[in-house]
Order: sequence, then C-alpha cells, then structure tokens
Amino acid sequence: MKQPAIDREQLINLATQAREVAYAPYSGYRVGAAVLTEDGRIFTAGNVENAVYPLTICAERVAIAKAVSEGATRIRAVAVVTANGGAPCGSCRQVMREFGEGNTLVFIAQPDGAYRERTLDALLPESFSVADLTRES
Ligand code: THU
Repeated sequence: MKQPAIDREQLINLATQAREVAYAPYSGYRVGAAVLTEDGRIFTAGNVENAVYPLTICAERVAIAKAVSEGATRIRAVAVVTANGGAPCGSCRQVMREFGEGNTLVFIAQPDGAYRERTLDALLPESFSVADLTRES
C-alpha cells in the first residue's frame, strides 16, 4: 500500500487534543496519543487509569487498539504528548512493534509543539516480533 504522507504538526496537534480526554485521576500524568495508520486514518486516545492501578492502559495502546479494532492494523507514525516530553513506555514500544515497522516514526512531544523524532528501531532495538516466531534457528 502507498505510504500516507506524515503531517507531523497535525499528528502532534491531535495528540495534544487527545490529552484533554486522558482519564488520569490517580497519577495526574495526562498523556495524549495519535496514531497514523497506513490507510491514512488517524486514531487518538488519552491514558485510561483505574482504581486498581495496574489495570491502567497507556494512551498509545488505547489509540492502537482503536485502530486495530477498526481494521487498521499497520501503523506509520505515532505522536505522544506529555507535559514534560516523557517517552513511550516499554510495553507501548512492543505493541507499536506488533503493528509497525522498524522505520515507523514516533514523535515525542510537549503541548507547546516541541518534539523529538525517533524511529521504532531506535526506541526498541533488536526487538522480538512475529518474524521470530516463524524463523528457523
Ligand atoms: N503512560 C502512558 O499513557 N503512556 C506511556 O507510554 C507511559 C505512561 C501513562 C500511564 C499512567 O496513566 C501515567 O502515564 C503514569 O504512568
């Protein structure tokens, strides 16, 4: 499939807006995410916390679950916005790897629009993926 153009500013803006719907009454750490899928759609989410703390779901994983459950299983880019430019956690990086490629782009941004850009390969080197399940030793 032809790759969709990546509008960094748009994706970061949408992730910043999604931060408004973060449900983070326990940590107070609001995260917004926006996922651009290969079919050109964008899915957004905030983190969703729970009184049983470990049940919390990160914004990135909520956004990816929205995409996959709407039939968009390949991701091209992800923007994540926090107050202080916090990076995606390890679990989210692995879930990005499931539906992304090494060259999937991740924009780690702050609400003022400042961001740093990383490939998924840089965030999760030597990752385990479906290819490892089928590869001969
Ligand atoms: N959080 C995310 O939404 N994404 C990450 O990649 C890191 C952490 C959330 C989970 C929890 O609601 C809050 O940030 C503090 O850990």
